[in-house]
Amino acid sequence: MNAPSPNAWEEAYLRFETPKEEQRKFLRRLRKLGAESWPKDAEVTELFCGRGNGLHALQQLGFTRLEGVDLSPALLTHYQGPAQCVVADGRQLPFPDAARDVMIVQGGLHHLPSLPEDLERVMSEVRRVLRPGGRFMVVEPWRTPFLQFVHWVGSFHAARRAWAKLDALERMTELEQTTYEQWLREPELILRVLENGFAVERKFIGWAKLMWVGRKI
Ligand SMILES: C[S@@+](CC[C@H](N)C(=O)[O-])C[C@H]1O[C@@H](n2cnc3c(N)ncnc32)[C@H](O)[C@@H]1O
Repeated sequence: MNAPSPNAWEEAYLRFETPKEEQRKFLRRLRKLGAESWPKDAEVTELFCGRGNGLHALQQLGFTRLEGVDLSPALLTHYQGPAQCVVADGRQLPFPDAARDVMIVQGGLHHLPSLPEDLERVMSEVRRVLRPGGRFMVVEPWRTPFLQFVHWVGSFHAARRAWAKLDALERMTELEQTTYEQWLREPELILRVLENGFAVERKFIGWAKLMWVGRKI
């Protein structure tokens, strides 16, 4: 059977970074957020995992019980590795209660169509599926001067023509504009919903990202 074709947004995402670049980026984030000290036999689920390079990075850190969830069958077909991957919606997870030690989202929550309702649905599912004391790691775009600078540079056609990665980023942003802008407009609301029921373990806001780990209370 042929793999499903990517849509326009997926096509831009696939050309934004190479798999190796993505894996290096995910490794840096996981290390910064303390993942090297998490038990390596933890059951880890990456939500909104896309083509699964976050799962490869977790594997490189020594995690062995890995699982990925994404809504896109076309992106999941790019993943070749030991993790179990399922096509599912982060707002309605096909897992039992208190069944995972770590859950991760990188760059997925800003795709949710309705705020705060959809974020509350994801958080309610994450709280349900995590064991007590389980960790939730989130990395998402955040409005910072650096992010505004990048989009300002991206508003020049010449810059996009000269730099393929910038062009892919701007194309993704155009195609997800409504949810992306809605996400960037509501930092206090988002942190309130995210931190409900979690004790914050790590939290950094810098460059263009929120990087956060909470432990389920
Ligand atoms: C920006 S990509 C991030 C992928 C990966 N985490 C990364 O950083 O490369 C967003 C992903 O979220 C997925 N997605 C969007 N809405 C979703 C939902 N409601 N449930 C699960 N996945 C979803 C998309 O298919 C896409 O793979």
